[in-house]
Formats: sequence, structure tokens, C-alpha cells
Amino acid sequence: MTAPKRKLQSILVTGGSGFIGSNFIRWLFNKPDFTGRIINLDALTYAGNPCNLADIDETWGQSRYFFHQGDITETELVRDIFSQYDIDTVVHFAAESHVDRSIHGPAEFIQTNVMGTFILLEAAREHWRGRDDVLFHHISTDEVYGSLGKTGKFTETSPYDPRSPYSASKAGGDHFASAYFHTYNLPVTISNCSNNYGPYQFPEKLIPLMILNMDAGKPLPVYGDGMNVRDWVHVDDHNDGVWRVIKGGRNGRTYNIGGGNEQHNIDVVKTLCAVYAELKGIDHREIEKLISFVKDRPGHDRRYAIDSTRIRRELGWKHSVSFASGLRRTVRWYLENKDWVETVRTGEYRRWLEKNYEKR
Ligand code: NAD
Ligand code: DAU
Repeated sequence: MTAPKRKLQSILVTGGSGFIGSNFIRWLFNKPDFTGRIINLDALTYAGNPCNLADIDETWGQSRYFFHQGDITETELVRDIFSQYDIDTVVHFAAESHVDRSIHGPAEFIQTNVMGTFILLEAAREHWRGRDDVLFHHISTDEVYGSLGKTGKFTETSPYDPRSPYSASKAGGDHFASAYFHTYNLPVTISNCSNNYGPYQFPEKLIPLMILNMDAGKPLPVYGDGMNVRDWVHVDDHNDGVWRVIKGGRNGRTYNIGGGNEQHNIDVVKTLCAVYAELKGIDHREIEKLISFVKDRPGHDRRYAIDSTRIRRELGWKHSVSFASGLRRTVRWYLENKDWVETVRTGEYRRWLEKNYEKR
């Protein structure tokens, strides 16, 4: 297959101040083959933080990096950004991303993940008008495929079967992105990735939450029996996959990106305890005593696992970060970046957590 001729010079990254988006922007500016500029459109919800990219802003601000605080559901704003920067590529990360929050309040998920995606697609269709050197890359999740039994993996042809309001809203966005390719011939690619970990992840997600709780001597809340399985991938490996799809992925095609690294939740927590204890020079059993089994998440998907054969074969993607070294680096990062942690953990966030954990 000949590589598509995409401009990749004026890239709109949505949700660029969140976990994966900020890592993507930093990763891309460190790539010698990237010569373009990035426009980051982010509403700065509780999960978005401009300090995630303070270094990038200092180096590239107003020359190759432009930040706009704004909502992807604001049609006029999105249109203006397309025109002002003559956007030729969209990398659409912006989303409400936390499953537990979607259970407590699904409305925002539908608004951002479905309506927001639709508004961006419309703006792209209007601005690009049949151009073929452009691309709308939609970032999605393995959760749209539902839950696996003991065996098997999700492939790009697995049927959609979302179980939480979060995954249902992501599935809605995916379907719109795909529909715009088929109906309007808009150049669209989609990637569905498994659980990411790494620096700058908001501490409501399993790995940072556990690290920070153990450091504070607080209980480590494990949902249900702790035997649910997730397929963990380092955020840099995910972003490498995303960039490969953007450069070489075929229009209209979906690419699954997974860690090849299935872990039971309880094992992830115990490994974190061991790494933390070793870094602190204490007995890991002291930390493991903090593990507390709590009431399960409603509709908790049992197992995710991704078959990444397509992106490996077609685009030469592979992992470069092992779980052991990536996790160790991640624990260190959270322990060394306490100022960041304090900045992102608002009083409101703490109260929400306290309210929502019930002992089993
Ligand atoms: P995140 O919650 O850390 O960041 C989301 C970002 O989007 C934040 O900066 C937030 O301010 C911004 N945002 C939210 N609503 C917005 C709106 N209406 N307008 C503009 N900006 C808005 O999420 P993340 O973990 O970095 O996930 C990024 C994307 O990757 C999401 O689409 C998510 O579904 C997908 N994904 C995440 C994972 C994972 O493990 N975290 C795995 C696979 C796919
Ligand atoms: O699979 C990709 C998805 O991974 C992304 O699409 C989502 O945006 C991202 O949030 C993540 O979803 P999960 O629900 O899998 O991630 P979370 O970190 O919330 O939970 C991971 C597992 O750990 C899950 O089985 C629930 C469990 N868990 C989570 C928390 C926060 C606990 O046992 N205790 C906890 O306190």
C-alpha cells in the first residue's frame, strides 16, 4: 500500500491538556520528523490541566504550539479554529473518560463524547470540502467491544457491545466518525486502545490512585474480587501507535492498540505495593495491608484483551516499554511530582471520592 499524502502541518489536538493528549503533544515535539504546529483545544475540565504542558508552552508557545481554552461542543469556536489555523489534521482525544463518573452522571459523556465528536466532524467536512491531504483521527477505546470471557481477544471486527455510559458514548462517537467516512468520504481513521498508564494521569484512575493512596497511608480500594483483567499499555507506546496511524493508516480503517499485557487488578495493585516498598526501603507487606476490597463497579467489565496484529503488520508498530520498567518509572514520577498532584486534586474531587467508596 502506498502511504497517504497527508500534510500534517497544522494539527488540531482536542483534549491536549489531559493525560494522553498532553503526553502525545510532548512526544510529538520530541520527534525529529515532526515539523508542523499544534493547536490544543481543551475545555480544562477537572481532568485537564495547562501545567501538564508548561514546558512545551515555554519552548514552542506562539511559534509551534497554540493553546485555546474552549469546548468542542461550541460550533462557532470550532469553526473559527479550523479557519484561523487552516487545520489539516485533527487528533481527537477530548472526552469525558472515567467509567465511574459516567455511572454517576452520564449526561456530560453524551454531550462531549457524542455531540462534541459530531461538531468536530461537521467542522472538518465544511472546512476541507473534499480535500484528500487531510485527516480526522478519532481516538477510542477497547471498552466499546464489551467484556470478554476467559479466552479470546478483541479484533477490529469484534462487534460493538458497550456496557457503561462511558463506553456507549465512545461507541456513539466512533459510529459518527465511521459514518462520515462512508457517507461524505471524509478522511477518517480510528484507533481503539486498551488501558494506558504513565505520567500526568488524573489520580482517579487505578494506577495513580493506588500510588498516591499508599503514599498517604490510605486504603487501596479494589473493586469486587480484584480479578477483573485489563491489558495495560504505556502511554508512549499508545501515542507511537496513534502517530503511525496518522502517517500511514488507511482512510476509513480502524486500528486496535493493546499492551499484550493482561493483568488482574489485584496483581497490578500488589506489584505497585512491591515497587513502592522497594523505592521507600520498607517491607511490602506493610503496604499490602492497606488493600481493601470494596463494593464492585456496576456492570464492571470482566476482561479486556486486544489483538494488535493489524497495526503491527500494516504499520510496523511494537511496544518499546515493558510493564515492569514503565510501572517503576510511573511510581517514581508520582512520588517526585507532588506539586502536580496537589494542583490537580481539588477539594471537590476529594469529596467525590469519599462519597463513592462503600465498604463491601
Ligand atoms: P482525560 O480525562 O485525562 O483527558 C480528557 C481531556 O479532554 C481533558 O484535558 C479535558 O479537559 C478535555 N475535555 C473534556 N471535555 C471536553 C470538551 N467538551 N471540550 C474540550 N475539551 C474537553 O482522558 P485521557 O485518559 O487522556 O483519554 C483521552 C482519550 O483517549 C479519550 O478519548 C479516551 O476515551 C481515550 N482512551 C483513554 C484510555 C485510557 O486508558 N486513559 C484508553 C483508551 C482510549
Ligand atoms: O480500556 C480503556 C479504558 O481504560 C479507557 O477507555 C478509559 O478512559 C480509562 O479510564 C480506562 O477504563 P477502566 O475503567 O478500565 O480504568 P480504571 O483505571 O478506572 O480502572 C481499571 C480497573 O481497576 C477496572 O477494572 C476498575 C478497577 N478499579 C479502579 C479504580 C479507580 C479498582 O479496583 N479500584 C479503583 O479505585
